[in-house]
Amino acid sequence: MKLKEALKDVLDENELKKLIKSYDLIGDIILIRIHHDLESKREILAGALHKIYPRVRTIAAVPLYSHTDKLYRTRDLEVIWGDDSMETTHKESGCFFKVNPKHVFFSPRLSYERMRVAKKVLAGETIINMFSGVGCFSIVIAKIQPQTKIYSIDVNPYAYEYMKKNVTLNKLEGRVIPILGDVREELKKLGLEDVADRVLMPLPEEAHSLLPLAVKALKLDNEGAGGVIHYYDVSTGRKGDDLFDVPIQSAKGIISSVFGNSLRMEIEEKRIVRSVAPRKYHVVLDLHVERMR
Ligand SMILES: C[S@@+](CC[C@H](N)C(=O)[O-])C[C@H]1O[C@@H](n2cnc3c(N)ncnc32)[C@H](O)[C@@H]1O
Repeated sequence: MKLKEALKDVLDENELKKLIKSYDLIGDIILIRIHHDLESKREILAGALHKIYPRVRTIAAVPLYSHTDKLYRTRDLEVIWGDDSMETTHKESGCFFKVNPKHVFFSPRLSYERMRVAKKVLAGETIINMFSGVGCFSIVIAKIQPQTKIYSIDVNPYAYEYMKKNVTLNKLEGRVIPILGDVREELKKLGLEDVADRVLMPLPEEAHSLLPLAVKALKLDNEGAGGVIHYYDVSTGRKGDDLFDVPIQSAKGIISSVFGNSLRMEIEEKRIVRSVAPRKYHVVLDLHVERMR
């Protein structure tokens, strides 16, 4: 049963219009955004959700204009029903992710994107995941393409601890390598330059500033086939507009200003990942980069 349907005899027409119908189910936790005018109806909303999902253990509200931590990308959450502990295990594409959405970023809405990237990976690739969170992209990739090694970096100590647990949970020790720290320092410290076949940059708000670092991490010898960067960006406009124009120009500009004419870059694929606000989208460009010969 849909949430609106479950509430049709409890809320009036005006209240039903203000209901935000989508919510996230993460393991046995539900996260729901609630309009200001429905704040006093939190318990009614939680009751309806619990009726639809009787096995749910916790229901938490994401305040409509909740603060998002700039570095860790976590949001304020308020438990409105059930257990205060927000640790849960989410299942996706045959993988298990232990998370606590109060302390780490996690979105079940990225499951298609994780699988899309994983399907492009070839046997034997060395991959760097620059913003790995609890390790979801890395784990999905390692599960479907066993002959890979994925260096997975995150600056959030909670994300790093969960990533280590998730590597064990999915039996991927030695294949997904959890690293705690700022990617700017960790790549240098570990000598991860000129080594990767593929780099993931799943931090749309910041990826542009670290694009030169991602290019330097790619193995770009003269004979090689080049490498791929999954570059995420934020784009504004209507869906019919060319939402990729600005991100493509920006990526090209950054690469040519740092590397001049020494590199060739092509867009292998581009897609809208998800809508994050009215007329605001997260987009991804799969950039194929190779040395000019
Ligand atoms: C949007 S989340 C993506 C997490 C993960 N890829 C996923 O899809 O679940 C971005 C992550 O980047 C991390 N982060 C932000 N800046 C960073 C930096 N300079 N170095 C390493 N990690 C960083 C944050 O802690 C956060 O976990």
